[in-house]
Amino acid sequence: MDVIHSVAALRERLKREPNNVFVPTMGNLHDGHIELINIAKPRAACTVVSIFVNRLQFGPREDYDRYPRTLEADCAKLLNAGVDVAFVPDEREIYPEPQNYLVDPSDLQDILDGAVRPGHFRGVATVVLKLFNMVAPRAAIFGKKDYQQCLMLANMVRQLALPIDLILAETVRAPDGLALSSRNAYLTPEERSEAPRLYQLLKKARTDILGGALDYQRIELDAMATLARQGWKPDYVAVRRANDLQAPEPGAPRLVVLAAARLGKARLIDNIEV
Ligand code: PAF
Repeated sequence: MDVIHSVAALRERLKREPNNVFVPTMGNLHDGHIELINIAKPRAACTVVSIFVNRLQFGPREDYDRYPRTLEADCAKLLNAGVDVAFVPDEREIYPEPQNYLVDPSDLQDILDGAVRPGHFRGVATVVLKLFNMVAPRAAIFGKKDYQQCLMLANMVRQLALPIDLILAETVRAPDGLALSSRNAYLTPEERSEAPRLYQLLKKARTDILGGALDYQRIELDAMATLARQGWKPDYVAVRRANDLQAPEPGAPRLVVLAAARLGKARLIDNIEV
């Protein structure tokens, strides 16, 4: 595996690999990331993984500074997973000058996670477009735990006519249902045993909707009240149309239920398709 730090060296290395498949990450790799790599590997002769904690997608009071950085362990995992190129740029490499040109995902950036985290999706879209321009992959893989991010990136790829196939992978969960996330590291042992409740409530919402429930607001409010009673601070539980995350008419096909809530120092997000 080549560990590459500069864009120039990356481009030189990838000249030989025009059909690479790309997995962008912020590091602190877990089995969810390894699953993305396992999906990438059979699709291309060269698998590229980036590790870059992107300041642009963090708000001023968010966890940029304490986001877990575990480069040595990450590189060992990438080597073990059979990755060909690890791209590990520092901030000056990605943002050598103030980033005045930004990608504005105006359809999605002001709702749900975008409303709670102003500027977040602009930061994600901008760095992902830059990484795409640096790696020039044929395909790129993202996990559906970040459902809104996946939808936003799919819209960006389509609307900007990027010649890249997006592959969206199912969420990887712990045996008790908790979606794997680097932010699970912030949970105390007590909070960790409470954390699967988020997915349990999403599954209940799905069962209720499939059972014919049409009052989506009731479902959202009940789930948020349960979370609050158990010591969570919910940002939202929302039943939305799966294709554009707008509020659905009762009985609409293809829904997704999304949730974000704080438990102690961790902000957890999850979703379930209906
Ligand atoms: O999902 C993530 O880890 C990040 O948002 C991404 C796509 C690597 C961009 O920084």
